[in-house]
Amino acid sequence: MIDGALIKQFLELYGGSEEGIRIFQAPGRINLIGEHIDYNGGHVFPAALDMNTVVIARPNGKDEIRFAATDLPDRVCAKLDSLENYKGIKWGSYQCGVAYMLQREGYRLTGCDMLFHGTVPFGAGLSSSASIEVVTALCLAKLGGAKQLVMEDIAVLCQKAENEYVGMSCGIMDQFISAVGKKDHAIFLNCRTLEYEYVPLELGDYTIVITNTNAPHKLTDSQYNQRRSECERALAVINANGGAYQTLCEMGIAELESFRDCFQDEVLYRRARHCVTEEMRTILSLKYLSEGNLEMFGSLLKEANVSIRDDYEATGKELDAVFDIAEGIDGVIGSRMTGGGFGGCNISIVRKDKAEEFRQIMNEEYTKRIGYAPAFYQSGAGQGAAEVEKWR
Ligand code: GLA
Repeated sequence: MIDGALIKQFLELYGGSEEGIRIFQAPGRINLIGEHIDYNGGHVFPAALDMNTVVIARPNGKDEIRFAATDLPDRVCAKLDSLENYKGIKWGSYQCGVAYMLQREGYRLTGCDMLFHGTVPFGAGLSSSASIEVVTALCLAKLGGAKQLVMEDIAVLCQKAENEYVGMSCGIMDQFISAVGKKDHAIFLNCRTLEYEYVPLELGDYTIVITNTNAPHKLTDSQYNQRRSECERALAVINANGGAYQTLCEMGIAELESFRDCFQDEVLYRRARHCVTEEMRTILSLKYLSEGNLEMFGSLLKEANVSIRDDYEATGKELDAVFDIAEGIDGVIGSRMTGGGFGGCNISIVRKDKAEEFRQIMNEEYTKRIGYAPAFYQSGAGQGAAEVEKWR
């Protein structure tokens, strides 16, 4: 869809003229490595995608926000004086949660009409939800007259909306990268301090192929919340036995080992082991990627996948199939699940001249094993959230 078509749809829906219309967008993401450790005080290494959630918006002079999407029949009208009332709605609770949180934190809101359009595949683990939150926050804050937005604060606010309003206990990674992403770069983010650096994503003869398992969405949020609480329980076991740690990722592997016998529940120990080893791999990844040592970087991705599969148990048969198949394809130097897991996407680092072959073999083998086809995406590292003249 081109701008003209989106604006036409907006005008058909809300009437009026083009005057006052503004366009905002925020991207989805992949995470190179550092999975499920943002909420354990670790480092993560995400990059924004070229795929975005776009919002066409215009003030409406009323005391309400109306919103709709190009691909859904739902229409929502949220009153500015009762934003706390839209928690359970089928579609739109992310937007209402962000509006509610902006208001609670003292941002001025103005009534407006919004039309959402997304090119981030929905429910694929590429942070379509975070991109909706961040674009909503940016749009509403700007329309409300905010001048100098601190995008890092916007990310934290969006995470709070998702935790408190939507009820998903996500970490900070997705909102953060969607808010501050930079073209051709990944960010190396310390999730405890929120300090970060931009790292050029230079892969030379290699490219990242994203494989979507297309696995049906099953209880992803509740499994995610369960993992999070298992990590809290693991930390509690350690601290009840003489440890004094704020987060799991502060520990080295030898320290964790010294508490091994304190765990009656072996599962909790394995969850903690994933966090501790993943933090080490993530820090090493920064070194190898910066040095251009892609082979070593790739082998860390594989180790990370094994850890999240066996110790964290956050993959599932579909992601495991993609990983196994990728391992056997010529030209692949690294492969792992990305994002929350339990279905969703895999990223594989593949020689550019082998990428087409990768897709062919993966498509065939995966379909044979799982019974339906995967989908593939090719995306460079994109820009973070922004007001734009033309969306992409
Ligand atoms: C989801 C969450 C993130 C992060 C990842 C796993 O995407 O929203 O905060 O925890 O899972 O790394």
